[in-house]
Amino acid sequence: MKMTKIYEGSYQWIMYGRDENKPNNIIDTNQYIVRTANRCLLLDPGGIELFAPMLAAVLHHAPVEEITDVFASHQDPDIISSLGLWDQALPNAKLHAPAIWEGFLRHFGCENIEYVAIPDNGGVIRLDNLELKIIPAHYLHSSGNFHVYDPNAKILMSGDVGAALEPPGAPMFVENFEAHIEKMRYFHQRWMPSNQAKRNWIERVRELDIDILAPQHGRMFKGDNVRKFLDWFESLQVGIAV
Ligand SMILES: [Fe+2]
Ligand SMILES: [Fe+2]
Repeated sequence: MKMTKIYEGSYQWIMYGRDENKPNNIIDTNQYIVRTANRCLLLDPGGIELFAPMLAAVLHHAPVEEITDVFASHQDPDIISSLGLWDQALPNAKLHAPAIWEGFLRHFGCENIEYVAIPDNGGVIRLDNLELKIIPAHYLHSSGNFHVYDPNAKILMSGDVGAALEPPGAPMFVENFEAHIEKMRYFHQRWMPSNQAKRNWIERVRELDIDILAPQHGRMFKGDNVRKFLDWFESLQVGIAV
């Protein structure tokens, strides 16, 4: 599992991905953590297959008792089917996940972990002195879906929005936006169901100051490529409109 630090200040954002031992028929995913002095948040920690390498990777940065929070942007298996294993591994953690998915996500196993249901209009996650904003992203692509924004680090963890299907070992950041478009087009047209939801999200996200857009598949966007992505996504017809 490759590790990339994407923010370093009084706390850190770290991305894990491009797992070389991943079976070929499993979609590659990006996992993120936010590590503060005494706490650690896992963002979309991944599927069952990824639990062991992720646990090993995260333990380099935080002891197990300081992994206190887990966030699931939505209910998909590549996002959070590892939940039952984290539930057994973390002695006192909270799972921040969409309220409407609670009765479904508990099927993955939720005996110890506290389910903190995120209401439709979003909320916050507090880690020591840090406050992360939970941004609604419903129907992008799941009917109950959230992203996480850090106004200090200027990072938006955007779940499946901005995802690309790439061969193993792809670079971490988009270098040439034009060349990247064809790796994103089918994914967004097929998995994003609603132009209306897309427009609503773009309007809200354009008001945020974003330095890094960090999706759950493929490469991250930095600087001007964030604006290029929003412009491209805005003009793309998705879902039933296709
Ligand atoms: Fe998904
Ligand atoms: Fe995904």
